Amino acid sequence: MNGSLVANQALLKSLIELLKPISSVDFSVCVPYPYLSQVADLLRATSIAWGAQDVCEFGNGAYTGEVSASMVAEFGCQYVIVGHSERRSLFADSEARVALKFSQAQAAGLTPILCVGETLEQRESGQMEAVVASQLDAVIHHAGVASLAKAVVAYEPVWAIGTGKTASPDQAQAVHAFIRSHIGALNAVVAQNLSLLYGGSVKGSNAAELFAQPDIDGGLIGGAALVADDFAAIGKAFG
Ligand code: PGA
Repeated sequence: MNGSLVANQALLKSLIELLKPISSVDFSVCVPYPYLSQVADLLRATSIAWGAQDVCEFGNGAYTGEVSASMVAEFGCQYVIVGHSERRSLFADSEARVALKFSQAQAAGLTPILCVGETLEQRESGQMEAVVASQLDAVIHHAGVASLAKAVVAYEPVWAIGTGKTASPDQAQAVHAFIRSHIGALNAVVAQNLSLLYGGSVKGSNAAELFAQPDIDGGLIGGAALVADDFAAIGKAFG
């Protein structure tokens, strides 16, 4: 829940210029709903995709205050984030609800970016793999493992989001390898082709070593995406 019409305009104009030379990387910007029309107008003629940060678990109907996947799709979105840890922890998005959101997104032709990740307490008590597996399985049981062929998965350790604490490249790689093998046990091809992003305090200074890991295919960037130069530095580290 960052941004304003004025700030977005300046940020996106800078991003368009700064990201243009980094042609080997796929970029997408996911924004709060009221700004979808603005990003669509600004990014339509560029190679940067756009999307939303959440979506309702139901289709259109009497759900006052909610926004459906088909509404989001009308604004030319390619992506929608589902299951961000802030949605899970602050807005009671259960695993079952996240699975419904995932399917709503796909039914509307959007690519869900499914976020998974453990809290510090869960990591320290040895539950990290069980937590991440359970978050994945909720979607796999609801939508089928093949649904992940048209999705992106983002590993975001809750303790690293917005905290300045990044998972070390080894820590992140270990969980990414776990995610790929967990999915691979059900469908090797889907697991191999899956785009697996790391998120949690990614910055220009730590991006290259994270992206160098064999199972890290990209990043989901929060705070650093609010400053065009910082975001571009992360893009360059990948490109
Ligand atoms: P951060 O946020 O990059 O600021 O840690 C990541 C996120 O919210 O997905």
